[in-house]
Amino acid sequence: MRTLQEAAHEASDCTKCRLSGGRTQVVYGTGNPDADLMFIGEGPGYYEDKQGEPFVGAAGQLLNRMLEEIGVRRADVRITNVILCRPPGNRDPMPDEVETCTPWLREQIALVDPRVIVTLGNFATRFMLDKPVSISRVRGQRFPFDGRTVIPTFHPAAILRGGGEASTQMAALRSDFQEIKRALAEIPEPVEEQLGLF
Ligand code: URA
Repeated sequence: MRTLQEAAHEASDCTKCRLSGGRTQVVYGTGNPDADLMFIGEGPGYYEDKQGEPFVGAAGQLLNRMLEEIGVRRADVRITNVILCRPPGNRDPMPDEVETCTPWLREQIALVDPRVIVTLGNFATRFMLDKPVSISRVRGQRFPFDGRTVIPTFHPAAILRGGGEASTQMAALRSDFQEIKRALAEIPEPVEEQLGLF
């Protein structure tokens, strides 16, 4: 298998779908290439497209705050999206764009090999669970996926649109992050660490 760096390099000049025509740059993913925890959002927005990094706008600030609250550093997790290029005017990605783009995501998951995947919002959750679920019904639950655990939660942008800190969705997001923390604590240590070799 090639490295994450090689995959990101190849993705950077992808022209497999029409979104390549309107993007500033491909937003492949950021953070630890060997993370136990991976976040998957929908697709890059305005600031992500400009900066080349996922979740750097207002939704990203809220994600950072949630990570801080559970004592996890942004640099220690992997963050990416279902699609790697910003759709014009932030419209929803079209089914053929998703189909063309997601081999990059599947490869990124295989290369990073996270134990826990958190899907942010309906779009990423439906994609990963491959079912037309509603985020408010499935959030905070654990779903097995290829030997990993998927935990859906609200998209931070939805919280910001829906009343922010005082909203009931915010309380749900906080509670889901506690579940993420518990799931991380349950990951067995690598055998080398159990033997005290590191
Ligand atoms: N929303 C997303 O789904 N992804 C980002 O990277 C930023 C905002």
